[in-house]
Amino acid sequence: MKRKVLLMGQSGCGKTSMRSLIFSSYRAADTRRLGSTLDVEHSHVRFLGNLVLNLWDCGGQQSYMDSYLEKQRSQVFSTVGVLIYVFDLVGAEGGEEGQTEWERDLRYYKDCVSALYQYSPDARVFCLLHKMDLVDKSRRASVYSQRVKELRRKSREVAHAAGGGKEGFRVHCFATSIWDESLYRAWSRIVQTQIPSLGVLERHLQLLADTCCAGEVVVFERTTFLVIAKAAGSTSTAGALSSSFERSTLTSPSGGFTYDEEEEGMEGFRDAQGRQTSTAGLGSGFGSGFATHHDTPASTTKPSGLDPERFEKVSELIKNFKLSCQKLPAKSSQCEFQAVELKASNFSAYIDSLTSNTYIMILVTDPAVQMASVKLNVQLARDHFE
Ligand code: GTP
Repeated sequence: MKRKVLLMGQSGCGKTSMRSLIFSSYRAADTRRLGSTLDVEHSHVRFLGNLVLNLWDCGGQQSYMDSYLEKQRSQVFSTVGVLIYVFDLVGAEGGEEGQTEWERDLRYYKDCVSALYQYSPDARVFCLLHKMDLVDKSRRASVYSQRVKELRRKSREVAHAAGGGKEGFRVHCFATSIWDESLYRAWSRIVQTQIPSLGVLERHLQLLADTCCAGEVVVFERTTFLVIAKAAGSTSTAGALSSSFERSTLTSPSGGFTYDEEEEGMEGFRDAQGRQTSTAGLGSGFGSGFATHHDTPASTTKPSGLDPERFEKVSELIKNFKLSCQKLPAKSSQCEFQAVELKASNFSAYIDSLTSNTYIMILVTDPAVQMASVKLNVQLARDHFE
């Protein structure tokens, strides 16, 4: 099954960087030496065995953009499954010049969405407000929400101009940076929309979680380590907590702000001050989340302390660990990442391969559960999931 994914945005906004990080094992610092993309760079990424992402990295220089919208219009915008439009937020801090840049970006975005509306009306549209690390922390939440509002307005204008009185595309936005796990979160969410039978996979994971008495179970794609699916053990209050929490409140790692996913499109960033959201690291994300969820103020149904980006943090950590393994001297180049076991005072986690295309992470908070039995269950489940 093939899915055409258009990666668009103005030159230098970071398209090739994110592609290289997610799909080609680059580190963030390596992207500084990337040159400008000439025209369109095509790549086919096999994902989970039978899903092939046909990535079109569309060079963002003005002459190319004009050509996509005119001469190559039908070729570029036909049969698209997903449009990922990347905005460089550097301009957001750049005063008048920044505003002009943003407006130019918006015009191109509107033209691209318009072309997509014409040729691939069923496509999904994702906007990445990128290089968030370069925006001053105190302004991130307001910059994000303001930009998202404008993007939604533009998208509605396109539908209106098309005369159908339709709602237009539902635009999903993410704040991203190559310097933290926000990029993994965005891309995980994007690819999840393209995976058929995700619900079935999640139901089976739920069974496995219950069999292992696990708090949470997460499946990662093997090469990208993007989060594919997850389930919370039904016997675990922590697990139930995590899934309801994830649906309601998300925390960005790079700024301590949150956005609300219940409002479609994840557009409503809010200042996290006064809430008990956490931007803590992996350990405390897991640990304190499980340990302190009863402390959540009754006034909010959104529990605290559990880092909603904890799985993407794992993605980033393991990906870097795998890269470190590969960098070992030639003689030991056979050294490949296989499995990891983590132990903390209030939880244990076990990561191992599940199928030929995936890894699984099982998280256990009950001290009575033996890791050996979890491993055995994973071993027995392999054929079933393959
Ligand atoms: P074209 O190929 O010309 O369309 O550009 P592009 O959108 O592919 O940009 P590219 O990925 O080449 O990135 C341009 C520069 O932005 C590189 O120096 C990257 O290191 C830098 N960059 C990419 N993402 C980020 C980010 O999240 N934060 C920061 N600070 N820099 C980034």
